[in-house]
Formats: sequence, structure tokens, C-alpha cells
Amino acid sequence: MTTLESLPAPSADTAAAIHDAVRERYAEAAVAAAAATSPEEAAAGSEALASCCGPDGCSDERSSPVFGAELYAATDRAALPNAAVLASLGCGNPTAVAELREGETVLDLGSGGGIDVLLSARRVGPTGRAIGLDMTDEMLALARRNAAEAGATNVEFVKGTITDRPLVASLFDKYEPAGVFHLAAESHVDRSIVSADDFVQTNVVGTYSMLESARTYLNSLIGERKDRFRFLHLSTDEVFGSLGEAGYFSEQTPYAPNSPYSASKAASDHFVRAYQHTYGLPAIIINCSNNYGPYQFPEKVIPLMILNALSGKPLPVYGDGSNVRDWIYVEDHCRAIRLVFERGASRETYVVGGGNERRNIDLVRRICNILDEIAPMEEVQSLHEQGLKSYSELIHFVEDRPGHDQRYAIDSARIARQLGWQAEVGFDEGLRRTIHWYLSNPDWVDQASSGSYGEWIEKNYAWRIRKEGS
Ligand code: DAU
Repeated sequence: MTTLESLPAPSADTAAAIHDAVRERYAEAAVAAAAATSPEEAAAGSEALASCCGPDGCSDERSSPVFGAELYAATDRAALPNAAVLASLGCGNPTAVAELREGETVLDLGSGGGIDVLLSARRVGPTGRAIGLDMTDEMLALARRNAAEAGATNVEFVKGTITDRPLVASLFDKYEPAGVFHLAAESHVDRSIVSADDFVQTNVVGTYSMLESARTYLNSLIGERKDRFRFLHLSTDEVFGSLGEAGYFSEQTPYAPNSPYSASKAASDHFVRAYQHTYGLPAIIINCSNNYGPYQFPEKVIPLMILNALSGKPLPVYGDGSNVRDWIYVEDHCRAIRLVFERGASRETYVVGGGNERRNIDLVRRICNILDEIAPMEEVQSLHEQGLKSYSELIHFVEDRPGHDQRYAIDSARIARQLGWQAEVGFDEGLRRTIHWYLSNPDWVDQASSGSYGEWIEKNYAWRIRKEGS
């Protein structure tokens, strides 16, 4: 029987076909294409592969020629076992080359928010270690609390910033990580509109610093440790701009960032892509839709609306409330991150969404309905005194976000097809869990809303409310 190891060096055409096929896990078809002895056979093989690769797989002009050429150039490694050849080429290895093992450290230099701590608590495993980084004492204290309460006993926090190259490099040296989850980012669009300074620093310069340290570190690795190393870069669907009423973002959607935040994330994605291409860094990008769930900082719309409602404050819906977001429960996103890190095709991109499109006004009304049911206003003394019957009476349409993207929606077909991922938590179920979590954690809410957060609320909402009243 023909195996990859027994084949002669393939031509560039067949190499490209092999790459496509392997990436899509059609190993048998790949072997057949590699066995082609003439250009005609190779072309026929490519066609057969195209028909089994699905609509987007083989037509990804982003990487096929590059990988094909690399595969061709690397044929002297054909004597190695399949897994090692494929891993060294960065092709998706059907046998999970980057699976995390007990006790292995990953650098997750996020800020200790919901995604980081839940990832660590549920996904890295009890003996594996994750290292987090945060800049201010205030956020560090919150991050430590998040980790302790989520049961993420395996996270260590370090004070600092990812823009500090010597610090990041020293973390690589000290912890010798099996991989990186690069989750560190400034993430709030409204803040980026007020000032983009921190966004350029953290998202662009910080990502560059992480990439440089990862590159140096990777060069110091050999053998299996090198083959298994992955750099997972967490990005956003906002890099693709705004959709009209129809259509979805996919891995083929061109970049068109509209806010300073999304521009900074797009820049970071481009740096990651350049490091994949130029230095062969085994990086993978995830562009995810709107997360929600426990531990989310209250500046984001879902916790903001829940917490404002519970304290009888206005619920500030931007514009006419018709903007649409695709909501994903944070734990579904964490599962996707772990899966992509371990089994995703290296140097690939995955878009991930919850498949829950909601107009903002419908989202806020739903939050109000659930609150009416589980925390009726007449039972909350301070609210009862306001003489209101439903939380929805607190809804106010306020001045819109400048440049507000109209609609985001994700086609998660690639991650579903390649990795078998799909969102498991329905939107209503996730929303209820989230509301319960914020209701049950008033101390956390007090801590998260103390300090500089109050200044932000004043800065972002005072003028909007004033305009509404004028
Ligand atoms: O799409 C993924 C992105 O989702 C992430 O990359 C970002 O880090 C994350 O912040 C989020 O961006 P959004 O701008 O969509 O999220 P935000 O929670 O700020 O707003 C969601 C929608 O709600 C948006 O259309 C603006 C609207 N909104 C937001 C706030 C804070 C309001 O109507 N009122 C508000 O007070």
C-alpha cells in the first residue's frame, strides 16, 4: 500500500493538493494525489480533492501556494513519520500534534477576565499552569479574585504589560511554555473611540512583542517540543467591518475594520499572519463574535444592562437599537480555543460564532423580561419605590456610538467541519446563567465597579444622557 513516507518528492502542484487534502483531513485522497506520476493525474487528483474539501477549504488562496511550495521544498523530510512531517510543515495534523499534557505550562497573557479564567479553570487542566499578566494593581486584584473563584488554581499572575519585551521574553525563558494563548488585548470599542493610545500599544505593539519573543523561543526548541508549539492569537470578527441585512463573515471575508479598536486588532492579525508566512511561526488566529457570561467586565453591554437594571439606572441603548450582534456563551468559546489550539491546522484561521443573532433592543428587552421573572421590581425595595412595574421601563435610546457597525454574524462552518465544534449553550439558557451569576456575586460587582470604572461610566454616558435630554 502507498503511504506518504514511501512516496517520491511530489511536484509543486501535487504538494499543494496534498496540503489542501491533509488540512481537510482527507488523508486517503492526499495519498492518491501524491502518487500522481504525471501533471494530468495530479490535476485529476486536485479536482477530486476540491470536490471533497467543501466550499471554502481548497479555495483558500491565502495559504495553498505557500504551503504547497513549503511542502515541496521540505520533501527531504519525507523519510520522517507522517505526523512529524506534517507538523513541521504546519499542516493540520489529524492526530492532534499540540495536545496539552498534564503539567504543561501555557502562557495565557490575557488580563484575567472571563475568557482567561474559564479557559484555565476548565480547559488547561488541574496540574497544567497558565501565566497571566496585568498592568494595574486594581485589575490584577480582580484577575486574582476571578481565578480563585472560578477554581483556576493553576493560574499565576505577573504584574506587567505585554509591551515590555524583556519581561515577556523572561516569561518564555522561565516557564518554557508548550504554547501561547495570546488573549491580551484592549477590547472595548467605546474606549478606543475616546482614545486609541492604549489600543495601539497593547494590541499592536504588544502583539509584536509577543511574536518576537515567541519566535526567539521557538528557535531555541528542538524536536517534539518545537513540533508541538502553537501560538494561538485571539482576535475578533470586528476586523471584517459591518454586514448588511444578509450574509456572514467567514475565513474568506476581506478585512475592513471600522473602529480604532478593530483597526488595532486587524493590525495585530496582520502581524501574526506575517510571522506565519515569513518565519513559519505555527500560529493560528481565531476571529470570534461577541462573548457573554460570568466575569465579564461591566463595561460590556450585557453586564452593563443587567447591573444598571438592578440598581434602577437607565438602560442606554445606542441609536435605534437595531444593530445586530452574534452572541456566544464564553464557555463555548473556551472549548473552541482549546480545540483549535490542540487540533486546528497550524497557520490557519477560524471564525467562531454562537449562531445567536440579536438586535440590541431585543437583547435588552429579553434581559428585562428575565429580570422581571426572577427579580421582580416590587420585591427589590429601592426599585419598588421608583413606582416602576418592569425593568423595560428603564430603557433609554441614547446618542449612537460613532461609526457603529450595523451587523455581525458568523459562518462557523470551517471549525464545525474540521474540528467538530459547535456552540452548545442556547442563548436564553446562557443569558439566564449570566443573569444569575451577576445576581449571585454582588461583592464581585462592587469590586469590578470600583476605582477607575466610575470615571469611565461618567466619560461614556454623561454626554449621551445629556444629549438625550436636550
Ligand atoms: O464582536 C466581537 C467584539 O464584541 C469583541 O471583539 C469586543 O472586544 C467586544 O467588546 C464586543 O464589541 P461590541 O462593541 O459589539 O460590544 P459591546 O458590548 O460594547 O456592545 C454590543 C452592542 O451593544 C453594540 O452594538 C453597542 C451596543 N451598546 C453597547 C453599550 C456598552 C449599547 O447599545 N449600549 C451600551 O451602553
